[in-house]
Amino acid sequence: MPAYTELILDTQAFYQNFKLLDAMPVMPMIKANGYGVGALELACLFTSFGAPYLGVSYLHEAISLRQAGICLPILALSFLPHEAHLAVTHRITVAVDTLEKVMALNQAAQQPHPVHLKINSGLNRFGVATDRASLLLHAIQHAQHLFLEGIMTHLMGAKDPSLDAVTTKQLSVFDDFVKRLPHPPQWIHANASSSYNKFHSSVSNLARIGFGLFSPHSPVTLRTRVMGLQEVQPGEGVGYCSLPLQEPRKIAVLGLGYHDGWHPSYGPNTCVWIHGHYAPVIGQICMDFMMVDITDCVHPIKVGDWCEILGPHRSLESTACSLEINPRVLLTHLSSRIQRVWVHQECLQKTLEQEKQPTLI
Ligand SMILES: Cc1ncc(COP(=O)(O)O)c(C=O)c1O
Repeated sequence: MPAYTELILDTQAFYQNFKLLDAMPVMPMIKANGYGVGALELACLFTSFGAPYLGVSYLHEAISLRQAGICLPILALSFLPHEAHLAVTHRITVAVDTLEKVMALNQAAQQPHPVHLKINSGLNRFGVATDRASLLLHAIQHAQHLFLEGIMTHLMGAKDPSLDAVTTKQLSVFDDFVKRLPHPPQWIHANASSSYNKFHSSVSNLARIGFGLFSPHSPVTLRTRVMGLQEVQPGEGVGYCSLPLQEPRKIAVLGLGYHDGWHPSYGPNTCVWIHGHYAPVIGQICMDFMMVDITDCVHPIKVGDWCEILGPHRSLESTACSLEINPRVLLTHLSSRIQRVWVHQECLQKTLEQEKQPTLI
């Protein structure tokens, strides 16, 4: 099938970003289909780079990876008690924060099954408060078929400097709790991308990194084809419910719309990079298309030409910033109609050959 829009993923950039995170082992978080780019491909990639663990949000995300042949330990952050048998059958480690979950898992398991205890240190989304966690720890230790392999917490405001005191407090609540354990588990994890280089947890030996794997080297290029060209005369508009133009404009119609995840609200502040020129979006973003003004483009533009929406000339971070949205939102909203294209760079192969034989996808 022809692809009119491609999300090109650079494996070398992922490799470089992963290797830069060398302060402690990293559990790549590949939830939400790997932040929209492809969970299975990222799972293969990070396995070959030497990650010790993978993390996802939901149990079914972990099961899909298992069924596709991923052998690395996988932590699912959320599950419902009635799904405990699935976690056991597919050898998925789960985070637990209630007695109900602990009991359901113990009942489903035939042999020791790993769990990570989730501490609520202030995000107030999941997790058990430290003053009630001992009860749960006791239950895990006395569960015949469970063992405590990890303990974790999640920070609420590490990316916001105005919340630094809150973050420091959260980490000290967590660290103090872990320090009091007579037998700390194998994996202790609190940090994610925003806190990895900024906040220190004295007990942690693993970091759950999601979006941090997309920088500083950007692995993401989003490009789409010119699907049509128009010359619009003064007094006419461009697109739905548009105002009349004052001057004639040349318009390129691009194969990207809100069904692809390019939200109507992105229009007014966006431009695209086409043949060495930034062309502003004009008119409303439609379901399948959007229009850009190419009047000032020096080089001729033809139907079928590629144009860059995100990439070297419009980075994900800067585009998201200009749209005043979180780059994770922009990325995870890109729909399945956009073809994911994984680029295997020669130099990545060479680097990896020297260190470790990769299983590249
Ligand atoms: C519990 C948990 N840990 C880690 C992460 C990874 O976060 P980031 O993408 O900021 O690294 C997330 C993502 O939201 C999360 O929910």
